[in-house]
Amino acid sequence: MSNGECLTGAKRAAKALVNSRHAIAFTGAGISTESGIPDFRGPQGLWKRFNPALASIDYLNSDPRGFWDFYIERFRVLSSAKPNKAHLALAELERLGVIKYVITQNIDDLHRLAGSVNIIELHGNYKTVYCIRCNSSYPFELALSKYESGENPPRCPRCGGILRPNVVLFGEPVSEISKALELASISDAVLVVGSSLSVYPAAYVPLVVKQHGGVMILVNLEPTDYDDYADVVMHCKASEALEQILSQVKLILGGAGVGA
Ligand code: APR
Repeated sequence: MSNGECLTGAKRAAKALVNSRHAIAFTGAGISTESGIPDFRGPQGLWKRFNPALASIDYLNSDPRGFWDFYIERFRVLSSAKPNKAHLALAELERLGVIKYVITQNIDDLHRLAGSVNIIELHGNYKTVYCIRCNSSYPFELALSKYESGENPPRCPRCGGILRPNVVLFGEPVSEISKALELASISDAVLVVGSSLSVYPAAYVPLVVKQHGGVMILVNLEPTDYDDYADVVMHCKASEALEQILSQVKLILGGAGVGA
């Protein structure tokens, strides 16, 4: 999409968001690629290089050593990443009262680091690990230091059980989904940023907003199965799209004389 088309989309998106009563954001891995974290299904996606089964509960149970060999590399990338302009723009839209909640599929903690406050992390957060035997919880750095000192799989200091990341693995329930769907059912606009909308139940969230008569705004580099269903589609980079949406929102709020 050309810059001009992104700007047109940003103007329409900003208008819909400012006119909404309860707008939420729904984000996926695509919002964090500009922070150096690969997505899963894009051209350089993780699942283009690795088997997604590596991120499943079955694999953790059958080969915890192999599981940690895969995850430790992923966590090293996550722990060095910083929020990018798209995360920061979303946090600003929340401060302006335009976005009420961020519902994310990402485990990278970047929305919180960017200053967003109302966040639902559907697939967990990499910052903590817990023991599969006694459930004791620890900072992920403990698992990293144990792994780096040769202890694989990393084990619980309390009971010796195997430690695992506090993230939702393939084959596990998404415990936060009911709260997210409830929020979606009272929302009249959803700003989807950087998701292929191909993993359920998470992908139901923006669909529920649309099904309740809300507006769906889609910001994604590649087409998705929901492009024809959305009200505004922007095939733009998340950072550019979100910055343009933010500046258009400020223009509208400024013009309305509302304190911005
Ligand atoms: N700007 C906009 N869109 C981008 C950018 C960017 N800078 N970079 C990548 N994208 C788009 C890609 O084109 C892709 O369509 O983001 C989308 C990311 O889609 P996925 O890789 O499928 O990621 P996501 O939708 O978050 O996956 C959902 O799948 O593997 C599981 O648990 C994992 O939470 C993840 C879930």
